[in-house]
This record gives sequence, C-alpha cells and structure tokens, in this order.
Amino acid sequence: MTHFPILLGLALALALPPPSKAADDGHHPGHHAAAAHGDAKPLKDERHSIALSAEERTAVLAEMRGFLESVHGIVGALASGKPATAADTAKLSGMGVMQGMPRTLMGKLPMEFRKLGMDTHQKFDALAMEAQGIGDAAVILKQLDAILANCNGCHAGYRFTTN
Ligand code: HEC
Repeated sequence: MTHFPILLGLALALALPPPSKAADDGHHPGHHAAAAHGDAKPLKDERHSIALSAEERTAVLAEMRGFLESVHGIVGALASGKPATAADTAKLSGMGVMQGMPRTLMGKLPMEFRKLGMDTHQKFDALAMEAQGIGDAAVILKQLDAILANCNGCHAGYRFTTN
C-alpha cells in the first residue's frame, strides 16, 4: 500500500480533464509535455478504414461509448476509494457484450482489430474479477492502464466508413 498516494494521484489525473487549450497561452513550455500527442497529430488521416454497414457501425460505436462509460465508472470507483464497485461497470464491457453484435460484423473486421477488441473485453472481465475479489486499487489501476493502451492503440490505426 506504500504506492497508494502516487496511485491516487494517477487516478485523479485520469479523472480530471486535461488543461484546456484556451487556458494555455503557449508561454509555459514546462506544461507542454502532456500536449505532445496533440501537437504531433498528422493533418492527413492515415488510419486504415474499415467499411461497415450503417447498422454495424452504429452497433460498434455504441459498444465504444459503453467502453468509455466503463472507464469512467472504474476511475470513479478508484477515486472514491471503493475499488470493489468497479466490478459491475467493468463487466458491462466484458466478453458478454459481444453477443449483441451483428453477426455480419466479424467477417468485416481485420484480424488484428478483432484480436485487440477481444483482448480489451477480456481485460475488462479480468479487472471485474480483481475488483470483486481482492480489489487492490493498485492492481486495478494497472489493469486500467493496459486497457487504455488498447483503446489508444486501436484508435491510432483504424476508422470506420459506411457503405
Ligand atoms: C479494436 C479497436 C478498438 C478498440 C480496442 C477501442 N476502440 Fe474505440 N473506436 C474504434 C474505432 C475504429 C472507432 C471509430 C473511429 C472513427 O471512425 O473515426 C472508435 C470510436 C470510439 C468512440 C466514439 C464513439 C462514437 O459514438 O462516435 C469512443 C468514445 C471510443 N471509441 C472509446 C473507446 C474506449 C474508451 C476504448 C477502450 C476501453 C476503445 N474505444 C477501444 C476502435 C477501437
């Protein structure tokens, strides 16, 4: 538990919005480290596009918003010092939600995308297990870190188009 203050800081950092661009007049070079990703964004969209039907896209985007809600719920559970309450919200993004997906979807998603998607669902289930078991906030935060790496990894590489 010696790591707790650091982890709480991290949890709060996750829970707080990033400094807004408007408040940043560009005269504070020391504050720019966190904005590095934004600055490096390419003007050209080089993500691999995946063509889906409107219905399939709607279903996947709803799943995505569910992901974000789960992340919010997990951060909230950690920030309020009740890590066990992360279990229910994490389960909402577990393997179970894949059953509701259109059957035509899998054939259209590249293998790497499918693997990353499945791995993300499994990681939410693993987090739920930890939360309802030992419920160690440090472990949960690490699991959330790995989940967010999946989110960012996939978002960097793919986008949807409709056909
Ligand atoms: C396997 C790939 C993949 C993973 C993993 C993934 N996403 Fe996405 N997500 C996408 C794609 C593709 C889009 C659509 C982007 C586009 O078309 O510009 C998207 C869109 C979204 C959107 C926008 C939804 C809308 O209604 O427009 C949110 C929010 C989102 N993702 C959150 C998350 C979060 C949070 C995670 C991790 C917990 C996550 N995603 C993991 C691929 C992924």
